[in-house]
Amino acid sequence: MSRNVVSMFLLGATGYIGGSVLAVLRERFPGLKITALVRSETHFDAIRATGITPIHGSFENQALITEHSARADVVLNAADSDDLNLTLSILRGMKQRYESGKPKGILIHTSGVAVFLDSETTGVFDKNGKLWNDSEEDDIRSITPSMLHGHIDVPILNAGNEGYAHTYIVCPAAVVGPSLGPIGKSSFFVKAVVQMSLVNKRALYVGEGSNEFNIVHIDDVVDLYCRVFELSTEEKGLQSFNPYARYFIATSKSISWREIATFAGASLYKRDILKRPEPLSVNLTDLPPYFAFLAASERIVAVRGKELGWAPRDVSLERWFQANVDAVLEGLHVD
Ligand SMILES: *[C@@H]1O[C@H](CO)[C@@H](O)[C@H](O)[C@H]1NC(C)=O
Ligand SMILES: *[C@@H]1O[C@H](CO)[C@@H](O)[C@H](O)[C@H]1NC(C)=O
Ligand SMILES: *[C@@H]1O[C@H](CO)[C@@H](O)[C@H](O)[C@H]1NC(C)=O
Repeated sequence: MSRNVVSMFLLGATGYIGGSVLAVLRERFPGLKITALVRSETHFDAIRATGITPIHGSFENQALITEHSARADVVLNAADSDDLNLTLSILRGMKQRYESGKPKGILIHTSGVAVFLDSETTGVFDKNGKLWNDSEEDDIRSITPSMLHGHIDVPILNAGNEGYAHTYIVCPAAVVGPSLGPIGKSSFFVKAVVQMSLVNKRALYVGEGSNEFNIVHIDDVVDLYCRVFELSTEEKGLQSFNPYARYFIATSKSISWREIATFAGASLYKRDILKRPEPLSVNLTDLPPYFAFLAASERIVAVRGKELGWAPRDVSLERWFQANVDAVLEGLHVD
């Protein structure tokens, strides 16, 4: 690690991705001084036990977030990919830091591959649809605020382009695998699939369900963050910086929604939570509007991380569902 990167402000330490990143950063970069924004004081002891300093506050404490973002060499946001005020508070701090004559701050932000969802509504995979390649700068430049998470990615890319911060965006697929973090949290994705199946009393897919999502293992996601962090410290002194070449998609493989629903249905049936194991094909028009993602696909290629030596393993979603559905269920109220 370069000597002039010593402090990090971390958002998301109690979460699934952020907590896992925290655990591995502590191991690999023990000299890094990490300060973390923590909402609930009940988590302070667990956070302190990892050797980092908790600060009490929520995303609404904009001045506090700005202050700590101005102070730290690196800000890592693994807390939220949709909260614009949070991101603007961070960017304000980084701008203040730059204008005060300090070395440019580094921002490592977390987006999500849903930004690249197509607009398919029938559950059919469009194999001629646009392929988003993180190694194609034009693809990253064509992210717009109307895309999911795009309203956050765009101001961050703009900040990197304006030149007051070095910005890095890690964009994970649906993350699976056990949390490595201090506060036990299960995969947001599996939790969402389980919840959706419980509410509808069946695992669901739309139409023929050939539309594809992407998945990646938490250990690989964490490894990519560490590689991006290392790269960011090496690039610290750069005068010219290209944020469009610093967008990292993290995916291991794609999987159809019909398969996802099949695994979810089978594992919930096995636990007597659903009455039928087979998933049910539905029409998107029968679901609430926020289910639109269920019919759409992500066609993505992850190249940038591989240039850093990142080599994600194959992920068995079936195995992961069987192994971790219990952890998800424990955290939900199942009647
Ligand atoms: C964002 O912050 C501004 C103040 O800076 C506030 O007026 C606004 O309500 C906030 N928006 C949301 C969605 O919280
Ligand atoms: C992704 O983009 C890079 C850089 O242009 C290119 O070398 C690579 O072939 C592309 N990959 C795919 C699968 O299109
Ligand atoms: C879905 O519902 C719409 C509106 O009710 C209908 O027009 C369409 O034919 C349905 N599609 C399928 C595949 O059932």
